[in-house]
Amino acid sequence: MNLTQEEILNSGHRLQAAPVDSWRIYDEDNPIPGYFEFDWLSSRHPDLYHRFALSTVGLIEKLHMLIDLTNCVVLDIGAGTGRSAMGAAEKAKRVFAVDYYEAVVFFGKSQLQQTHTKNVDYINGNRDHLPLPENSVDVVINAWAELNPEEAYRTLKPNGHLIQLGAIPNALCGELTSQLALDFPWLPKDCAPSEVFEPGYPDVYCTADNSIWNGIPITGPINVQQFTYVADYKDYSEAASLTGRLYGPRAKHYFMTRKQSTFSWRLQIILGQIRK
Ligand SMILES: C[S@@+](CC[C@H](N)C(=O)[O-])C[C@H]1O[C@@H](n2cnc3c(N)ncnc32)[C@H](O)[C@@H]1O
Repeated sequence: MNLTQEEILNSGHRLQAAPVDSWRIYDEDNPIPGYFEFDWLSSRHPDLYHRFALSTVGLIEKLHMLIDLTNCVVLDIGAGTGRSAMGAAEKAKRVFAVDYYEAVVFFGKSQLQQTHTKNVDYINGNRDHLPLPENSVDVVINAWAELNPEEAYRTLKPNGHLIQLGAIPNALCGELTSQLALDFPWLPKDCAPSEVFEPGYPDVYCTADNSIWNGIPITGPINVQQFTYVADYKDYSEAASLTGRLYGPRAKHYFMTRKQSTFSWRLQIILGQIRK
C-alpha cells in the first residue's frame, strides 16, 4: 500500500497517533504500516518507529567522531521521534527538529521531557518551506529522510555543513536486504554482500571532489564514511515483532528462527561544506 503525503493528511492520520503498542496486535501478514511508509509510521505509530530506529543511534554516535557539533546550531530535517535530534543535542548548542506530522512532533516533545533535554526545539514544518530564516544554522542533518537541498542551503550559514545519514545504497534494509528483495521489488538487485554486516567489518572512508552536491555549491571534498553498526533489541521477540510489523512475515521468521535480537546495518554518513 503506497500512500502519498496528501492522502495521509486527508485521511485524518494527523489527528492523533494510535495508542502506544497498539501496532503489536495487528496482523503481521498484512504489514501496514510497512517499510518505506514512513509518513504513515510517523503520523500513526511513532512509538513503533522509535523502538525500531536504533540505527539512527549508531549514525549519530559515529557522526560525533567525524564532526564537533559543540557550539553549533543544528537543524534536523525529518526529525521523526527525535533519535537524530536528541543525539545531536548531546553536543550541539541548539537543535531545531523539524517534522511534518503533528503526531510525531508530539511524540518527540514527550521524549524531550522524559530525557530532560532542554536544547531541542521541535517544530511542525515542511522540508520544502523550512520555518527558519536564511543563514541561521551551522549544520543541517538529514537522517533517513528526504531532503530539499535548496531549502537546506537557504537556512545554512556560509560554510555550514550539510550531512546526510542513512544506509549504503544497496543495503537499505540492513542485513535483511537480500531476504526482502523478494518481497519489495524496488529494493536494489545487487544487495550488499553478507560479510559487510559482520560486527567489526572495517569502515570505509573516501572523498569525492565535487563542486556541486545535491544541486548546491559546496567547498572542498565530500566526505563519505561507511561502517557497520549492530543494533541490539531487548530480545529476539522484540526484534521479530518490530521487523515483522515493518517488513512482513519473512522478517519476523528470520529473527524468530535464529532467536536473534541483533540487527546489523551497513550505514553511511555523507558530509559536505556548502559554499555561499
Ligand atoms: C524515516 S523518518 C527519520 C526520522 C529520524 N530522522 C531518525 O533518523 O530516526 C523520516 C521522517 O521524515 C518526516 N517527513 C516526511 N515528509 C516530510 C516533510 N515534507 N517535511 C518534514 N519532514 C517530513 C516523516 O514524518 C518522518 O518522521
